[in-house]
Amino acid sequence: MKILLLGSGGREHALAWKMAQSSQLEKLYVAPGNAGTAEIAENIALDLSDFKAIGDFTIQHDVDLLVVGPEQPLVDGIHDYFSSQPRLSNITVIGPTKEGAQIEGSKDFAKSFMKRHRIPTAKSGSFNKHQLQEALAFLENQKAPYVLKADGLAAGKGVIIENELSKAKKALTKMLKGQFGSASNTVVIEEFLAGVELSVFIITDGTNYKILPEAKDYKRIGEQDTGLNTGGMGAISPVPFANREFMDKVENQIIIPTVKGLKKDGIAYSGFIFFGLIAVKGDPYVIEYNCRLGDPETEVVLPRLKSDILELFDGIATDTLSERDVEIDLRTASTVMMVAGGYPESYEKGKEISMANTDEKSMVFHAGTTIKNNKVVSNGGRVIAVTSYGKNLETALKTSYENLDKIHFEGSYYRKDIGQDVM
Ligand code: AMP
Ligand code: GLY
Repeated sequence: MKILLLGSGGREHALAWKMAQSSQLEKLYVAPGNAGTAEIAENIALDLSDFKAIGDFTIQHDVDLLVVGPEQPLVDGIHDYFSSQPRLSNITVIGPTKEGAQIEGSKDFAKSFMKRHRIPTAKSGSFNKHQLQEALAFLENQKAPYVLKADGLAAGKGVIIENELSKAKKALTKMLKGQFGSASNTVVIEEFLAGVELSVFIITDGTNYKILPEAKDYKRIGEQDTGLNTGGMGAISPVPFANREFMDKVENQIIIPTVKGLKKDGIAYSGFIFFGLIAVKGDPYVIEYNCRLGDPETEVVLPRLKSDILELFDGIATDTLSERDVEIDLRTASTVMMVAGGYPESYEKGKEISMANTDEKSMVFHAGTTIKNNKVVSNGGRVIAVTSYGKNLETALKTSYENLDKIHFEGSYYRKDIGQDVM
């Protein structure tokens, strides 16, 4: 297979690493990629919003499969672009159509979808910018803490949780008046659910699905889950509380109704679904859907997938996903993200990274790096994720931290408490 992978984060380095292990891979291109993907694939400078240029590239280089890492091109309709062009329609796209990507692209869509298909989620109301008074009245009838969500993609910043009603009212007014541009033209007001979060992933062809290893992400910048939200500071897999009984509930109450619901609604879906879940007294609820894999979750999920990922992609291409096996590595995987000083607020890029002597027990996934004057330099807020296996969480984390100690760049920071809450 000749493959083009879109994206430039740790998720894409982990996807590239996993695909590169397959005997079925003939050539892998990554656009735009990073210094890590450059070691195992060919990086191509393509603008991910320029679908025509991406299409032209796949024709010129005989690409059979397009794997879309991030959500934005999916929400913008890259799958639909490929299906609508006769010259591109035989290329398999791993990632849903624009309509399917609405499960992530519109919180309002996701909430109505879950209500329609009786999928457990927080009770909510949706209000557009012409319904400010109704929205404020609805909010007054809610209990604290108040959860406000911008409907559209808002770079991970669209969820606001306030304890005081007066602050929540102000935040709601600001949102509906355009704080997040068109992303907050509609706002979802949601009941607060208290519990522990985890992420569950499937790959689906719209009818059949395969469950991948679950993971727990650490979203806050500070230790003990304090400070601002980030894209994710580390992840572990498996998740200790996600036992057989819990995962059966996830499959029966959430995964099956989601896949069936998409089909019933006439939405063709091929690719990954990321279920952001919260366990409340042992029962799973959906906090959010994503139409892609997670970052840094992928850096622990794919290392635990023993099966050839191209077999799964081929299963989607040839409608044979149900016949493919998913074999899981029983070891624990942990990943810890090294970030730029200042992240998730303003930070500097271009810091030279030294990575002397990281041993083979860890996989160093690049999340935000590039090559400048033959040197690897930082190129984002989240810079390097170090993944390790262990017979348990403690040994996996010990190895990740030992190897993180060998990686340096000016101003770097990482959380030292990844996984502590579940040990
Ligand atoms: P989201 O972008 O939807 O994942 O929301 C960001 C974070 O806000 C989640 O990871 C949760 O920690 C929190 N959150 C969102 N919705 C709720 C809710 N209904 N109850 C409690 N926490 C929530
Ligand atoms: N780590 C959370 C995400 O990828 O959305």
